[in-house]
Amino acid sequence: MSSVVRTVYVETYGCQMNVSDSELMLGKLAAEGYAPVDSPDGADVILVNTCAIRDHAEQRVIGRLGELKRSMKPGSIVGVTGCMAQRLGPRLLTQAKHVSLVVGPDGYRALPQLVARAQGGAREVATSFDLEEHYEDFAPRRFDKVKAWIPVQRGCDYKCTYCIVPYTRGPERSRKLADAVREAEQAVADGIAEITLLGQTVNSYHDGTHDFADLLRAVGAVPGLRRLRFTSPHPNDFSDRVIAAMAEVPAVCEHVHLPLQSGSTSVLKRMLRRYTREEYLDCVRRLRAAIPGLGLTTDVIVGFPGETDADFEETLSVVREVVFDDAYTFKFSPREGTPATRMPSELTVPDEVATERLERLIETVRTGSRARNLTLLGSRREVLVEKLARRGELLQTRSRDFKTVLIGGDESLIGRYVNVELTGTTGSTFTGSVVSDRGALPVAS
Ligand code: SAH
Ligand code: SF4
Ligand code: F3S
Repeated sequence: MSSVVRTVYVETYGCQMNVSDSELMLGKLAAEGYAPVDSPDGADVILVNTCAIRDHAEQRVIGRLGELKRSMKPGSIVGVTGCMAQRLGPRLLTQAKHVSLVVGPDGYRALPQLVARAQGGAREVATSFDLEEHYEDFAPRRFDKVKAWIPVQRGCDYKCTYCIVPYTRGPERSRKLADAVREAEQAVADGIAEITLLGQTVNSYHDGTHDFADLLRAVGAVPGLRRLRFTSPHPNDFSDRVIAAMAEVPAVCEHVHLPLQSGSTSVLKRMLRRYTREEYLDCVRRLRAAIPGLGLTTDVIVGFPGETDADFEETLSVVREVVFDDAYTFKFSPREGTPATRMPSELTVPDEVATERLERLIETVRTGSRARNLTLLGSRREVLVEKLARRGELLQTRSRDFKTVLIGGDESLIGRYVNVELTGTTGSTFTGSVVSDRGALPVAS
């Protein structure tokens, strides 16, 4: 017999877009009477929302699916959703016999029906794209009480030659501005302190009437919203209008995640990134000129087919010239069906070369950010208290320029803004002490 209240567990891999999609799926199933639970053990519905960006991400999920077999009770179903579901489709059903549901990123509207059919013994695959789908009528069940992810664009039209995302998420489409603003208003009414707008090339947002500059101004004007962020922008879509909106809207935080991928124009060309090394550097200059104190983070890939030592040195030189506050660094991972896999095999960079380049890149990023961070000691920041830090009694907070600052204090500060002085740094993260210009602690909104 099934229990009275059916339960659902969702486990999320990959980017913030997937976190946001998991929140939509949970919201949809909660509206159908499912109770979300924190553990897969004995849940009626177990969903694994997956990422396909690199082979490593997929191997983790394959391993995890095997483990989840042990959490199943008679009658539970396991579903795979997200980018790997879209990429592999029915192949997943053959590979994992205990999986009975495979649903891609545009298929979540039918989730309750698909789940019901799977519970009845069917094995379902739903991987059609739907260019109208934004899940407007879904009420997300947010995992985080402090910060909200708000998707404003789905899919990607850029088709960088290494990337699987255009195939797993389909063509780019933007949500209507009014719908995004409504969700932001609701989030603020629910007590959310910071909003991040999401899209694969979020600053190419265009809903037919409004561009990304309009969107920043409209969401930034939501009463009570103190912090607005967005990720990930594409360097080509930073129009003067967008940069002016960032500089002028007080809520927009002084931080940009600006994926570089490579510092070599010839590699960038083969990646189909559509900018040169000089154009990237020019974008950085325009952003820094307009927004004082801008924090800058990036993504870099090493070992792309044909990357020579000289190309890699050009990447290092951009990293030294820009001095990023942080970087996510990756070894190129060939993705089936992407143009990069069709490049001549003699262009393949040997794994030991890519590994060595990755280590040098990480060291170069660290050297720059450590030097920058040391100069910030003694300066003051407003931080938002996000959660308990992983270790110890400290609280984890974030500044507007995206620095992680650990401070002392009790849990009642979570979700509040305080002013801190940066007192120490590991090189990447900071410790800070709460200060107040008026002598009263803490200064909170
Ligand atoms: N839409 C975002 C990035 C999404 S994927 C953007 O364009 O910036 C996140 C990062 O994963 C990318 O920026 C890239 O650095 C990395 N990545 C994507 N495909 C990859 C691959 N095949 N191998 C290694 N890294 C990859
Ligand atoms: Fe992938 Fe390029 Fe689109 Fe980013 S812009 S999601 S890297 S294809
Ligand atoms: Fe991964 Fe899909 Fe995001 S491939 S990075 S979960 S868009």
